[in-house]
Amino acid sequence: MKANEKMRVGIIGTGWIAEKAALTLQGMDTCVAYAVGSRTSSRGSEFAKCWNIPKAYGSYIDLINDPDVDLVYVGTPHSHHYDITLEALHAGKACLVEKAFMANHRQAAEIVELAHKKQVFLAEAIWTRYQPAVGIVRKLLSDGRIGIPRLITATLGYSMGNKPRIMLPELCGGALLDLGVYALNFVRMFFDNDIIDIQSQCVKSPTGMDLTNAISLTLKGGLLANMQSSACCVGDNIGVIAGTEGNLIIDNINNPQVIRVNGPDRVFVEDIPVPRQITGYEYQFETCRQCLLKGLLEPVEMPHEETLYIMKLMDGLRQQWGVRYPMD
Ligand SMILES: NC(=O)c1ccc[n+]([C@@H]2O[C@H](COP(=O)([O-])OP(=O)(O)OC[C@H]3O[C@@H](n4cnc5c(N)ncnc54)[C@H](OP(=O)(O)O)[C@@H]3O)[C@@H](O)[C@H]2O)c1
Repeated sequence: MKANEKMRVGIIGTGWIAEKAALTLQGMDTCVAYAVGSRTSSRGSEFAKCWNIPKAYGSYIDLINDPDVDLVYVGTPHSHHYDITLEALHAGKACLVEKAFMANHRQAAEIVELAHKKQVFLAEAIWTRYQPAVGIVRKLLSDGRIGIPRLITATLGYSMGNKPRIMLPELCGGALLDLGVYALNFVRMFFDNDIIDIQSQCVKSPTGMDLTNAISLTLKGGLLANMQSSACCVGDNIGVIAGTEGNLIIDNINNPQVIRVNGPDRVFVEDIPVPRQITGYEYQFETCRQCLLKGLLEPVEMPHEETLYIMKLMDGLRQQWGVRYPMD
């Protein structure tokens, strides 16, 4: 790919997030949905027709082997990220892999090691990390607009019914890997202080997956972070960073639209909207494109080390709760 060319994305999977990716890429000048790969030829063709995508493949490996695909975007359930990414990296293909990155830390470490060995670009598609809200909040914090941060709260909840990929261990179900991962990233992208203590609890589904969970982290430097995520109720999805002189209210932690700044005694100071979006997913694709053009192997917005850290954290929480996957 040259600087004046569009990055050609090969989308793997044809589900909810694959549609969002196609919609996003349609609106971008610098990237294009070039191919789609499905386990089923007919589904791949239908998806390609619907989204005006030039190539449709009835297998993931055929998409991976298309020499014109610049970036493989893995949009299958978490349980299937490992095998697909492994194949893609062996084929020397740059990969953007949906969150949760892998089923567990062991898989994630293997994949990262392979990417390094093969010198191939690899990134986690945790879209919030790539969005402009990150820079806005970091600046507010470093400017001391809320004094010294002391307490972070973050909730993410969606009523997702009996979706197999939430309910089944073999699809790496549960709220943590699907939603809690955003709350953990919300905390970590602003405060990567060492964790001194972790307390947590969860309510499980009859299939043994965490449906609702609460996590409390004590961070070095006098900070406490409380997070909740749930796959069975409608959350407020708000993040709050409370400091000695005010607070920031981020609405919402899964795609920030407005950052409210309050001063002492919760007196309203200002609302800062984020720039107009296509969907909010465009930033992760553009970051990948910039990395490929510069020959980088990972994005600074979400380094491999951080992806691995979050995976390890989630392994530990699942272990506490007894939430097990066949690949553990
Ligand atoms: N970033 C975000 O905002 C966001 C939002 C939602 C989901 N996600 C992530 O995206 C990934 C997919 O989620 P989704 O909601 O798009 O799931 P989905 O609607 O169930 O779609 C998943 C797709 O993966 C493929 N697939 C391969 N093996 C599968 C299997 N054993 N069972 C079901 N589907 C299988 C299917 O495509 P084919 O049959 O065509 O092969 C299917 O359409 C997950 O990792 C999830 O965490 C991210």
